[in-house]
Amino acid sequence: EANERESMYLVSEFAKKYFHNTLLNDDEGKAIGLSYFKERGFTGDTIKKFELGYSPESWDAFTKEALGKGYKLEYLDKTGLTIVKEDKQFDRFKGRVMFPIQSMSGRTLGFGGRILTNDKKAAKYLNSPESDIYHKSKVLYGIFQAKQSIAKLDNCYLVEGYTDVIQFSQAGIENVVASSGTALTPDQIRLVNRLTKNITVLFDGDAAGLRASIRGIDLILEEGMNVKVCTFPDGDDPDSFAKKNSHDDLLRYLETNAKDFIQFKASLLMDEAKNDPVKKAGLIRDMVTSISKIPDRIQREVYLQETARIMDISEQVLVNTLAQLVQKDV
Ligand code: CTP
Ligand code: MN
Ligand code: MN
Ligand code: MN
Ligand code: MN
Repeated sequence: EANERESMYLVSEFAKKYFHNTLLNDDEGKAIGLSYFKERGFTGDTIKKFELGYSPESWDAFTKEALGKGYKLEYLDKTGLTIVKEDKQFDRFKGRVMFPIQSMSGRTLGFGGRILTNDKKAAKYLNSPESDIYHKSKVLYGIFQAKQSIAKLDNCYLVEGYTDVIQFSQAGIENVVASSGTALTPDQIRLVNRLTKNITVLFDGDAAGLRASIRGIDLILEEGMNVKVCTFPDGDDPDSFAKKNSHDDLLRYLETNAKDFIQFKASLLMDEAKNDPVKKAGLIRDMVTSISKIPDRIQREVYLQETARIMDISEQVLVNTLAQLVQKDV
């Protein structure tokens, strides 16, 4: 209901300001949260731009403050900011640095909170639960800060994490958003499609799940968008790579290494199946499935030629496979 959502937006906005203010002005916030961000190389301007924050190490400091200011427990509960158990109330986020998640128009929808240690047993990020205002699958982290730059440069970099967005932005590459670790959804892609037809997907250099994540990219083709991909050296993610390179070197790296998605996928699959005819047959179908998602007929034709060349097979085989796939669809 509209009024309920409005109340949820208001309390989320309050929380964003509370966490931000705690980071900048509270003794614990400064000593723990601010110094953490400084250590990661974030400047004061960057911290303000993304309204980063800190949630104190306390059972209920935030909840008490919010209730004291007249915000209702009902909406603290519905946004997940407060966990209500019988007659007791606890802060969801405790002793974490806070990343507010905003809509395209700048409304605060939810939060990601990172622990400050590298304790492998604890979940690194705690996120707001799904709610009537926060639908994880429809949100892209950083879109509010990035939208003008995406439209102006007519390209959008898509990364995995909060800190990748922030470090890129600080390095002067502002047309960047994050899927926040989830598989890309059609709603997220449509959000970008309102601003540009061009997406460059940047993968973490850990190579884990590369094969799995490239499946999600077919969704971008289905929207009729152009997709490039770029990988980083092993062990780097966009954040760590941006941090150790100058703006010019970073841009040059992206320009040199961004590959057209279809070519990238064909090469990657070929590496896996070089001398294995059975595998190769399977990946021909895989490739043609990707190509069949492309709405534009001429572009499909160009990609069939490219793929035939990379995979060293006749284009006719691909054309036939495509015809079979399309037949199944109708
Ligand atoms: N993520 C999450 N919950 C986790 C781990 C990851 O929600 N337990 C999401 C976060 O949005 C995170 C993104 O997935 O930013 C990418 O994960 P990862 O690469 O592990 O984290 P980084 O963003 O690189 O974080 P950091 O540099 O702080 O370690
Ligand atoms: Mn809903
Ligand atoms: Mn990762
Ligand atoms: Mn990462
Ligand atoms: Mn990282």
